[in-house]
Amino acid sequence: MRPRLYAALLLALLSPLATSQNQPAVPPAATPPMGWNSWNWFAEKVTDKDVRQAADLLVSSGMRDAGYVYVNIDDTWEGTRDAKGVLHANEKFPDMKALADYVHSKGLKLGIYSSPGLKTCARFEGSEGHEQQDADLYASWGIDFLKYDLCSLHKEMGVMAPGDKLKQNVIMRDAYMKMHLAIVKAGRPMVYSICQYGHDSSWEWAAEVGGNMWRTTADIDSTFFRIAQIGREQAGLAQYAGTGHWNDPDMLELGNGKLTADENRSHMGLWAMLAAPLAGNNLTQLSPNVLAVLTNREIIAIDQDRLGRQAERIYAKGPIEIWSRPLADGTVALAIFNFGEDESFLRGFSLHLAASGAANGWNARDVWAGKDLGPINDNYKFTLKRHASLIFTLSRGQAHN
Ligand code: GLA
Repeated sequence: MRPRLYAALLLALLSPLATSQNQPAVPPAATPPMGWNSWNWFAEKVTDKDVRQAADLLVSSGMRDAGYVYVNIDDTWEGTRDAKGVLHANEKFPDMKALADYVHSKGLKLGIYSSPGLKTCARFEGSEGHEQQDADLYASWGIDFLKYDLCSLHKEMGVMAPGDKLKQNVIMRDAYMKMHLAIVKAGRPMVYSICQYGHDSSWEWAAEVGGNMWRTTADIDSTFFRIAQIGREQAGLAQYAGTGHWNDPDMLELGNGKLTADENRSHMGLWAMLAAPLAGNNLTQLSPNVLAVLTNREIIAIDQDRLGRQAERIYAKGPIEIWSRPLADGTVALAIFNFGEDESFLRGFSLHLAASGAANGWNARDVWAGKDLGPINDNYKFTLKRHASLIFTLSRGQAHN
C-alpha cells in the first residue's frame, strides 16, 4: 500500500482517539525538524547538565531564533525498570520532568531516544515489551521527539526468523508501528524519528509505520569524506520525502571535527538542499564561521521550504555534481558541488538550468554571498575550490512574467 493512502487510512481509524486526545491538526515535522542532538559530540557521556547547557547555548547563540528548537537526548540516559516495569532514567539524569520543564521554559522542545529491541546500541534498556509504558512515560515527562533506533532488534529478528529476510522485515516494521501507535495513544504529539541506517530501503516503508523522518544511512562522522559519501548517496530519494515525512542523512557535523570553511558550507548546503533534519553539532565551541553557516537564514529557508520538495541530482561528472529543488514561491534552488581534491575550473561546464526547472535569462542570487547576480546563463563562468560549492536561487526575470 502506498504510504499516503496508508497514512490517510490510519488517520481515519485513529481520528476519534486523536480528537479526544488533542492530537494537532498539523502533523509534527511539517518541515524538517531542526535542533541539537547529544550523540555526535557527547556520545555516552551526556548528562542533564550538558543538555541544559545545550538549551542555554541554542538561545544565547541565536540558533533557537533561527529555527533550531529540538534538544534531543540520544542514547545512554536509560536506567533500570522497577517492579512495575516503569523505566527510570539513570544517575546522569536525576529528574527528567524537571529537565523537560527547563528546556520548555526556554522555548525549546525535548527529545529522547530508545530502541524497539531489548537493548539500545550502547546496550542500555530498550523498549521491547514496554512500548505503551514508555510512550506514556515520555508523554508524562513532556517529551516532544523520539528517536527509535533498531539496535538489538536486528539480531533478535535473525533469531526469531532465521534466514527468512521477509519475515525479519515484517517483525521490524511491526515493532516500529507498535511504538508509533503507542505514541498516538499516549496523546502527546512527538516527532517519530526512525533510526534504522537505511537497511531494507527504509524510505519505502518508514512513513507507513508512522515515521516523520528516517535515517537513510549508517552513521556519519566528522570527516568530509564521509559527509560527501552520505550526501551523494541520497540521489534518487527525493520522491520519498515530503511534508511530515523526511529522509534523514544523519546529523550535522559542523564544529565537531576539523572541517574547513568551504566544507562547512558544502555540508550545510547539501543538507539544506536535501530537506534534511538539521541537528547534532557541538555547541560548546561554536566558531564564528560555524555559527554563521548554521544560522544563514537563506540556507535555512531552503531547508525549511514549505513545498517540502527534496533536491534531486541533475548532473554528475567526476567530482562535480548539480542538485536542484523547486521552492514554494516558484523559484528554484540550484547547488553545484566540487567533491574532489583539486580546484575545478569547470571548463565547458553547463549549469543545466533547464533540467532544474529554470531557464537561461532567469535571475540568480548567490545565496552564501547574499548577492543578486542578475540574469544568468548555462555558460556562467566560475571556479570551485576543493570541497567547495555554490548555491543559487533562480527566479523568473520581470520580462518573462
Ligand atoms: C546508533 C545510531 C547513532 C546513535 C547511537 C547511540 O549507532 O545510528 O546515531 O544513536 O546508535 O548508541
